[in-house]
Formats: sequence, structure tokens, C-alpha cells
Amino acid sequence: MAIERLVEPTASGDKEEERIEISLRPVSFEEYIGQEHLKNNLKLAIDAVKKRNDGSTLDHVLLYGPPGLGKTTMAGVIAHELGASLRVTSGPAIERAGDLASILTNLKDGDVLFIDEIHRLRRAVEEVLYSAMEDYKLDIVIGKGPAARSVRLDLPHFTVIGATTRTGSLAGPLRDRFGIVHRLEYYKEPEIGQIINRTAGILNTKIQPEACKLLAARSRLTPRIANRIFKRVRDYADVNGDGIVDTVIAKKALELMEIDYLGLDPADRNMLRLMYENYGEKPVGLTTIAALTGDEPTTIEDFYEPYLMQVGLLTRTPKGRVVTEKGRKHLQEMK
Ligand SMILES: Nc1ncnc2c1ncn2[C@@H]1O[C@H](COP(=O)(O)OP(=O)(O)OP(=O)(O)O)[C@@H](O)[C@H]1O
Ligand SMILES: [Mg+2]
Repeated sequence: MAIERLVEPTASGDKEEERIEISLRPVSFEEYIGQEHLKNNLKLAIDAVKKRNDGSTLDHVLLYGPPGLGKTTMAGVIAHELGASLRVTSGPAIERAGDLASILTNLKDGDVLFIDEIHRLRRAVEEVLYSAMEDYKLDIVIGKGPAARSVRLDLPHFTVIGATTRTGSLAGPLRDRFGIVHRLEYYKEPEIGQIINRTAGILNTKIQPEACKLLAARSRLTPRIANRIFKRVRDYADVNGDGIVDTVIAKKALELMEIDYLGLDPADRNMLRLMYENYGEKPVGLTTIAALTGDEPTTIEDFYEPYLMQVGLLTRTPKGRVVTEKGRKHLQEMK
């Protein structure tokens, strides 16, 4: 899927972006900027495992939160800090219980298994995972019909790191198997500034501090978007300047991308405007908003709305979503 919106927090699927993302991924706690609360908790847990040194493993970790905040990155960091190997898979990739069985039996003691989009695991697969996570046993059925019998296999002691953008759709029993459950928060603006600076350094581009601030303010408090916007601005600087990202270049590039000072793009403003023009201060249901904009309700709910709520332009009431006073002012201003 090609990227349609620059400010989309999900991975674009673009090969070039993927390559850059991998090269930009922090590998240690030290390089991983922000999420201090999460890092402190994990550091403690990891230090404890290392200190015990009795073959025990890190508790299973569930990371949730909006896309692009660094869940996959953190899984890599955890494995690195544990000195463990990381095996990566995802909910939709594990089609049958047998697929999971083969992944699990191929793990070694202490390995980390990262399951992205864990809320999309199939029920049958999920059930096998429960007992595997709980007591490192695998129950499999051999044969069919009356001759079928169930065997229990011992599994290596591994750690599952699950990632999901929606905990709501995670089955209770699965959720309960995770000893460490943590929500990734939106970053603070100065942290996004640090991430942009780091990216500029890795990509060998000079950026002025004021320009960095400007970009940070428009990156929706999300590292993936910050990196993506930075890359665009850098291209602009290469073509229209001497390659250095200063405020003039940054402003012009952002203008070209139609990203306003709160990080909203035309589609965000359009959604807010349609809601306000049609419903004023009355709450609007998710499906109605989706019908107004032509998006999928889940796209709105998972990707666009969390940030608009974070910056206070939109609120959620039991009856639906409402454009806030701040949202109305912003629309007025951006007219
Ligand atoms: N704390 C951080 N410090 C520096 N860079 C970061 C940080 N978190 C994320 N990034 C950058 O943002 C990019 C996106 O992060 P990542 O792929 O880990 O997000 P995600 O939460 O897994 O997203 P999704 O939900 O779409 O899978 C990474 O390539 C990385 O370069
Ligand atoms: Mg990810």
C-alpha cells in the first residue's frame, strides 16, 4: 500500500521507508529516546533476571499504543539488553496452531519471541499460546478421529513480547498471561526534537536547532512521522538549498506538505470541518464520521483520532465524538 498521507502513523509499506526505518532503529535503552517510565520498569526487570542468573526469563511483555511510537523498536531493544536472540512474527502470519508449534519448538532457552499485531491471532492459535506462555508446555494432538491422542511437549523458557494498537480486542485470558503490560505514550515535543536530531546525524544532514523545533512541533508527537517529515524536508533542502535544514527551508517544505503548526494535514482539518459544519457541538458517531470522510471507522479510531484527542481538538463522549472549542478555533485559524 502506497502512503497517502504524510502524517499517517502506520508504516507506509514503502521499501525505501522500511530500509531507513531499520537503519534508524535504536538498539539499546541508551539510544531509545523518551518513554522513560517504560524504560525504567523494563530496566529493573531485565537487571533482576540477569542478577538471578538461574535460568529464569523475563516476564512476558505486552506493549500497546498508537502506531509509530516505537513498539517494534522496543522489542529489539529488550532482546538486545537481555543479550537474547529475537524471533519476529505477527498475529496474522501464524495461520494455524501447527505454525505456532513449529515456531515455539525452534526457540532456545532465553529467546525473545516478538508477536506483532497480537490481537489478530486466531482463536485456535491463541489457545496454544496460553499454555505455552504459562508453563512452557505445548499440547498437541497427534492423529485424527478415535485414534487421536494428545501429547505434551516441553518447550524452552522464552519471553513473548506482544504488540498491539488495540488492547480492547485482546482476549482477556491472553492479556492475563503478560506479567508486564505497558502503554506507549505520545512523546514530548523536545523528545521528538532529539529524535529528529539523531536522525539528521545518522543521515548526515545538518539541521538548525530552530528548524528542528519547528519540525518537532508538527510531527504529531510520533517518531515515525517525525522521521518521515524530516526526510521530506531534507529532500527539499537538497533540491532548493544547500542541503542544510534551516527554518526558511523547513517552513517552505511544511507549507508544501500542507501540514499546519499542530501537525494536522488537510484530511484532518477536513474531518473536523465536516463534523462541525454538519453537527455543530452535538456528538457524532464513529460510523457517521466515517461516512462523512469516506474512511474506514477503524482507520479513524486507531490512527487519526488518538492524536486529535491528545492535542485536545476532539473529545469522546458516550454518544460520540465532539469537536472541542480548541478544535473550532483551530479550524477558524486555518481557514
Ligand atoms: N524512542 C525512539 N527513539 C528514536 N527513534 C524511535 C523511537 N521510537 C521509534 N523510533 C523510530 O520510529 C520508527 C517507528 O517505530 P516502530 O516501528 O518501533 O513503531 P511501532 O510502534 O512498532 O509502530 P506499528 O504500530 O506501526 O508497528 C522506527 O524506525 C524508529 O526509527
Ligand atoms: Mg511495529
